[in-house]
Amino acid sequence: MDFQLNPLPYAREALEPWIGRETLALHHGEHHAGYLEKLEKLVGEHVKPGETLESIALSSTGPVFDNAAQAWNHDFLWRSMAPAPKGGAAPQGALADAIDSRFGSLGELRREFLEIGRTHFGSGWLWLVVDDFELRVLSTQDADMPLRHGQTPLLTCDLWEHAYYLDYRNERERYLENFFDHLANWDFAAANWSAESARR
Ligand code: FE2
Repeated sequence: MDFQLNPLPYAREALEPWIGRETLALHHGEHHAGYLEKLEKLVGEHVKPGETLESIALSSTGPVFDNAAQAWNHDFLWRSMAPAPKGGAAPQGALADAIDSRFGSLGELRREFLEIGRTHFGSGWLWLVVDDFELRVLSTQDADMPLRHGQTPLLTCDLWEHAYYLDYRNERERYLENFFDHLANWDFAAANWSAESARR
């Protein structure tokens, strides 16, 4: 694998006013890039052909895991968000049916998503996953990722302060509300849901 930073799937200002250009510049260009740089220093000479961020994360611990998982999680994060009109547009099709069946409504999924994100202590990630054939909202600590627990991620929101502090200061809940209402890329989640459904 190479350790190149993938470009953002949209312009740095594309998520304004919900996430500012400066946040995305730092978050992608410094934090995400930094995880890849550290990972390359740690394992660059030892990577075997065919290895990926995912395979490295799933077979490592300590700093190698932390940096590989953080790089993978951020790649997933950028695709979990989209500018308007896609961002925040309600899910459609099979995923919408599955959300209604599991949570009762999109509003109830939103309530659970905000509650788990609001009460998560410290740094980490908020996820919608498929766990044992069921949709589930959960958070992971620090760099931890659902793939390590046999769960399939559909969508993620970054709970590290670097993701929202410039735009929201300590108001994590307001960041989470705007993520869900204006940025969540349900087309991406639906594609992940379809791929997971096809595997079963
Ligand atoms: Fe981040």
